Amino acid sequence: LGPATLETLPPEPLLIAATAGTTDAGLIDPLPEIAALCARRGARLHIDAAYGGALLFSPRHRARLDGLAAADTVTLDLHKLGWQPVAAGLLAVRDGHDLAALNHRADYLNADDDTEAGLPDLLGRSLRTTRRPDVLKIAVTLKTLGRTGLGHLVDRVCAQAQEFAELVDRHPGFELHAPPTIGTVLFRPAGATDDTVAAVRRQLLTDGRAVLG
Ligand SMILES: Cc1ncc(COP(=O)(O)O)c(C=O)c1O
Repeated sequence: LGPATLETLPPEPLLIAATAGTTDAGLIDPLPEIAALCARRGARLHIDAAYGGALLFSPRHRARLDGLAAADTVTLDLHKLGWQPVAAGLLAVRDGHDLAALNHRADYLNADDDTEAGLPDLLGRSLRTTRRPDVLKIAVTLKTLGRTGLGHLVDRVCAQAQEFAELVDRHPGFELHAPPTIGTVLFRPAGATDDTVAAVRRQLLTDGRAVLG
């Protein structure tokens, strides 16, 4: 829904979810307009920045996420644009009370004396108990590359997507769906049916040459 359609919603929407980087074309919703509308209507704003959130690392592309800071909650997947193996999903909340629903207690996990001594109760962060240390690889990447290093990688991906899209656009054998907004280039063989596209995709997959979405 665009901002104009959102204006027609019933007077008290509870939650509006915007997307910063759609799964297919990488489109970014008009975040400042949606954030202003949420403020006017008293609605909470969640921004799914699973794909596009890493643009924040790049001084060149960061402004495309203006409005993100107004969100109550943001999701970010560094296993999409962030050079992490799965799983590297993060949920950022503006107000720590939003995590209160996760605040369950189990005597064997929450020893009162440990809590009083200031040790964190991981049960208040997730309902899962046994878990993989997924944050370790993120920490190592941030420590090694830093925001600047990741920003360079983001810039390179965006530039290469643009360059590839221009090559596709100039090639008579391909049709470019639209100029890329992040790193996804949508194109197909000119005049090909959906069945032909699917057959090519499966062939590349079974040959072990490429995984196409
Ligand atoms: C925009 C967006 N949000 C959420 C998801 C779900 O991400 P995950 O598979 O990490 O839960 C995807 C996955 O492609 C996505 O593209």
